[in-house]
Amino acid sequence: MTRWMFPGSFDPPTLGHLDVLRRAARLCDELVVAVLHNPAKRGLFTPEQRMEMIRRVAADLPNVRVVSSDALLVQAAAAFEITCVVRGLRTSHDSAGEIQMAQLNRAMLPGLEVLMIPTAPSFAFISSSYVREIAAKHGDISTFVPAEILPDVLAAYEV
Ligand code: PNS
Repeated sequence: MTRWMFPGSFDPPTLGHLDVLRRAARLCDELVVAVLHNPAKRGLFTPEQRMEMIRRVAADLPNVRVVSSDALLVQAAAAFEITCVVRGLRTSHDSAGEIQMAQLNRAMLPGLEVLMIPTAPSFAFISSSYVREIAAKHGDISTFVPAEILPDVLAAYEV
C-alpha cells in the first residue's frame, strides 16, 4: 500500500496543480493532497475553501484524499504515514528551491522520498500568485484554472 502526499498552498489550485495531481494519483494507491498553510498569512481562500475546490476538481479520482494542516510538511507527512512526497516542477527555475526543500525535509525526516514531476509544458507558466494578480484586475484566467473553480476565483474579486 503506497500512500503519497502532494503538498502545496493551492491558493487557488491551477491547471498545473491538477496535471501533477492526476499523474501522481495514477502512481500510488492513495494520494493525500495536503493544503499546507501558515495561519499568520491570510491567503485569498481559507484552507477549507481550498480543500473543497480540490475535492471538486478531483471528484472522479477515488484514491485522492484532501486534508489541511498548519504543521511542517514533515510533521504532516509523519502524521499521515506518507512514504513519498510529490512536487511539480514547472521550469528549471523551480528546481533549485525544490531541491533545497526536498533535502531539508529529508534531513528532518530521513526515509521520506521526494518525487518531482515536471508539469506539462502548456502549464509551465501558470502560478497561483499570477492567477490572483490577473484575476484581481479582472484579466482572463479561464485557461489557467480548472473550469469547475473559475466561478470561485471570479467571485473572490467581485466588488
Ligand atoms: O504551493 P507552494 O506554495 O509552492 O507550497 C509550498 C509548501 C506549502 C509545500 C511549503 O511552503 C511547505 O512545506 N510549508 C509547510 C511548512 C514547512 O514545512 N516549511 C519547511 C519547508 S522546508
